[in-house]
Amino acid sequence: MGRGPRRARRRRARGLHPGDPAPPDHRPRPPRRVTLIVAYAAGQAVGIGYGFRCTPDYWFGDLRPAITAQARDTDSLAGICELAVRTGWHGQGVGTSIHTALVAALRTQWVSLLAMPGDSPARRLYDHLGYQYAGPYRAGDGPVLDLLLLRTGAATVV
Ligand SMILES: CC(C)(COP(=O)(O)OP(=O)(O)OC[C@H]1O[C@@H](n2cnc3c(N)ncnc32)[C@H](O)[C@@H]1OP(=O)(O)O)[C@@H](O)C(=O)NCCC(=O)NCCS
Repeated sequence: MGRGPRRARRRRARGLHPGDPAPPDHRPRPPRRVTLIVAYAAGQAVGIGYGFRCTPDYWFGDLRPAITAQARDTDSLAGICELAVRTGWHGQGVGTSIHTALVAALRTQWVSLLAMPGDSPARRLYDHLGYQYAGPYRAGDGPVLDLLLLRTGAATVV
């Protein structure tokens, strides 16, 4: 079967009919690939970090207008979703190393993440790494988090 009938069936399933103009699709594009860094020491995994390249629409959502213009309109942005180190390995540079490796692998000019407001080891680390506060962020019914932004200085625009 050619692409035509399949496409027509899909369009009918969405309430569209042949000849109707395609609907505007405003959904932000989801990430295609996730980059995961795992730190090992003494033969065991002691920390992880992961993130992905994404569009400003996808990552900032409704907060996008409030974001600094350079980051708001960039085509070189990554979101870091998680950074975690085993408790017994805190304060030894593992988190910093994972972050460095992740940023190097993502190769974007901007990196962003969400952090709990207030003082915490994570927040101190992000301050230390050069992240700047970019605004309050709430996902659904979740708590209000701090959106943080880092300009990496990466030369490569993706
Ligand atoms: C946040 C977290 C990942 C940090 O990991 P970590 O391995 O302790 O981080 P580091 O050791 O690299 O940095 C912590 C501090 O130790 C210092 N440090 C100590 N020894 C170090 C060394 N040998 N090399 C580099 N930094 C060292 C760092 O400078 C840093 O100081 P700072 O707080 O003034 O910035 C860790 O605390 C954690 O997993 N927390 C729970 C999960 C969490 O909150 N994740 C973040 C979600 S938003």
